[in-house]
Amino acid sequence: MYNNIISENRGVVQIITINREQKLNALNVELIQEIGQEVARLNIEESVRGIIITGKGEKAFAAGADISEFANFGEDEAKKMSAKGGKVFCQIEESTIPIIAAVNGYALGGGCELTMACHVRIASQNAIFGQPEVNLGLPPGYGGTQRLAQIVGRGRALDMLITAKSIDADTALHYGLVTQVVALDELLSTCINYVEKLTSKSPLAIAEVIKCTNALYENKDGLQFEIDSFAKSFQTTDFKEGTTAFLEKRKPNYS
Ligand code: COA
Repeated sequence: MYNNIISENRGVVQIITINREQKLNALNVELIQEIGQEVARLNIEESVRGIIITGKGEKAFAAGADISEFANFGEDEAKKMSAKGGKVFCQIEESTIPIIAAVNGYALGGGCELTMACHVRIASQNAIFGQPEVNLGLPPGYGGTQRLAQIVGRGRALDMLITAKSIDADTALHYGLVTQVVALDELLSTCINYVEKLTSKSPLAIAEVIKCTNALYENKDGLQFEIDSFAKSFQTTDFKEGTTAFLEKRKPNYS
């Protein structure tokens, strides 16, 4: 179905694997569009409770945008590439199904940017993060300057961006770029377990949490957005089930 990714269903979990191991899972234009198509499809179907994005093999999540593809681009092509790819990264960020980046090695340039568009990042001990674009005579083009500063703060972001330095998994944890570091052979099971735990929570409430949190970065009145979202939730079956279950001293059952 896809040329560059593998999408595998495991019940409530969908695993999207970037499948260009020989090229350290470098992100070409088609690959990014394929991730976008798959995320869109899963958001319409609403049968999964979490999406995991990871890289094939043991060495890389994704070692960046595919340099061989854009090396001869001019300004117009570069603008199209950045805008089109950036749209997919926003789509990932706006997915109302949580997306977890299972970072299994190099996450450089576009690879690091892809992890940052995801809602949660869990890394293996061999993960390496960095935005090395200045080595290539470029700034990042898939939202790296914006999201890195949002996640780790302006000071640490600028330090990483202007020096092109890479950081290891423990430093990423210290920076708040990832929330957990585990052994490589436990990475996928940890992420699957993370998603499975979400099945005891209201999917509608999770979707609202994502929308409200994103509102902070979208030039919206986030507090008003949250008031409206909170109020709207009182009409949902999830709210009825959650509050009734609490009062009846049982676990809620969200469909
Ligand atoms: N774009 C295109 N191809 C890439 C790539 C990228 N971002 N990153 C790695 N590759 C390819 C290499 O060209 C090589 O292909 P080949 O075997 O056909 O020559 C293959 O993946 C393996 O990479 P290699 O460099 O041999 O592995 P390494 O272990 O020696 O080094 C890295 C690993 C990650 C340090 C190195 O590949 C690298 O610096 N990659 C580019 C990182 C980057 O600048 N990313 C930002 C891009 S905007």
